[in-house]
Amino acid sequence: MLKTSRAAELPAFLAMDVHAAANRLKASLPAGAPPVLHMEVGQPGTPAPEGARRAVEAALRDGLPLGYTDAMGRASLRERIAAHYTDWYGAPVDPARVVITTGASGAFPLAFLAAFDPGDRVALVSPYYPPYVNILRALGLVPVVLEATASHRFQPTLDMLERLDPPPEGLIVASPGNPTGTMLHRDDLVAIGDWCAANFVRLISDEIYHGLNWDVAISTAAGVPGAVVINSFSKYFSMTGWRVGWMVVPDDLVRPVECLAQNFFICAPHISQLAAEAAFDCHAELQENVARYRRSRALLIRALPQAGFPRLSPAEGAFYLFADVAGRTNDSVAFCRRMLAETGVAATPGVDFDAARGRHFVRFSYCGPEADVREAAARLTRFKEAVSFT
Ligand SMILES: Cc1ncc(COP(=O)(O)O)c(C=O)c1O
Repeated sequence: MLKTSRAAELPAFLAMDVHAAANRLKASLPAGAPPVLHMEVGQPGTPAPEGARRAVEAALRDGLPLGYTDAMGRASLRERIAAHYTDWYGAPVDPARVVITTGASGAFPLAFLAAFDPGDRVALVSPYYPPYVNILRALGLVPVVLEATASHRFQPTLDMLERLDPPPEGLIVASPGNPTGTMLHRDDLVAIGDWCAANFVRLISDEIYHGLNWDVAISTAAGVPGAVVINSFSKYFSMTGWRVGWMVVPDDLVRPVECLAQNFFICAPHISQLAAEAAFDCHAELQENVARYRRSRALLIRALPQAGFPRLSPAEGAFYLFADVAGRTNDSVAFCRRMLAETGVAATPGVDFDAARGRHFVRFSYCGPEADVREAAARLTRFKEAVSFT
């Protein structure tokens, strides 16, 4: 028998399996049946902002060659991103440290390979975004998973980190995080950055949900010595399928990341880089999306407890609520399957994000149309009345 690798045994990203099941259900529905409501994926239903689309139209109309860009990305986009750090955080960044990537997903292997060797340990809290652990394992790195609870706002604390003996080589943080939507407040991020610097731990900060923060200000790790910041045009900028994101890397990783990017990807899609640059002039339109998410979130925070989901993550950002369903089921996979079949509402079982405790959690994403979120809340309320789980 031919050999397959250890990486070939990686588990599925369950949210995508649920998405496929929701699409199969949609295809099988008779005409006029109530539609399937998608709350399983973190994908804005809105298109890329108009300015981004117009930039692409102009490039195509003018017959721009759209060949490879530098592996680090178009200089003008790198400069625009560097300026964004002054605009949003008042923290200037040297454009030489900005790397354009194929989404945040394309940034992970570049960052991990540039910073770590096989066998190195990289800590993160659970519940977590599953590809962190899956990519680390595929690269021969060792995830060190720290169990966080609602009382920690599902974020790492200094206490947890100080118990790591010896300290790991790396630490991944995400604020706002997926699936919980919770945030590391400014002082916590500073304290974690200091701990990393004192213990020679490379901090990787996933900031993909910046711009989608509801109650507290966002802070970036771009100024933390040695830290790698990962971000993307997928969420706030509503450009998932364009596959464009960025990293801010520390000086010692600039050239290693450039060499890795040249070999792995050559460059991020050129056309998407043009669109991304134009998207920075579209904040007014993007703020309309943000206002819609804010309304949907408020609606769900009111409605979900009445629909049998009384314990929601203390989410201060992103477009997710992570609901503790321990009172209703021990098997969130079966629960979500039944919920989809009986209500047409698709949500992601928590096991995707935390294999053991996730049996008691379900993640709802509310970045779809507002009317769908309202209708989902109504259907889930009827579902609660009709069904009791053991
Ligand atoms: C926390 C987090 N990081 C990274 C990604 C990957 O995003 P991208 O589309 O930029 O590859 C996602 C996607 O959902 C995410 O939730």
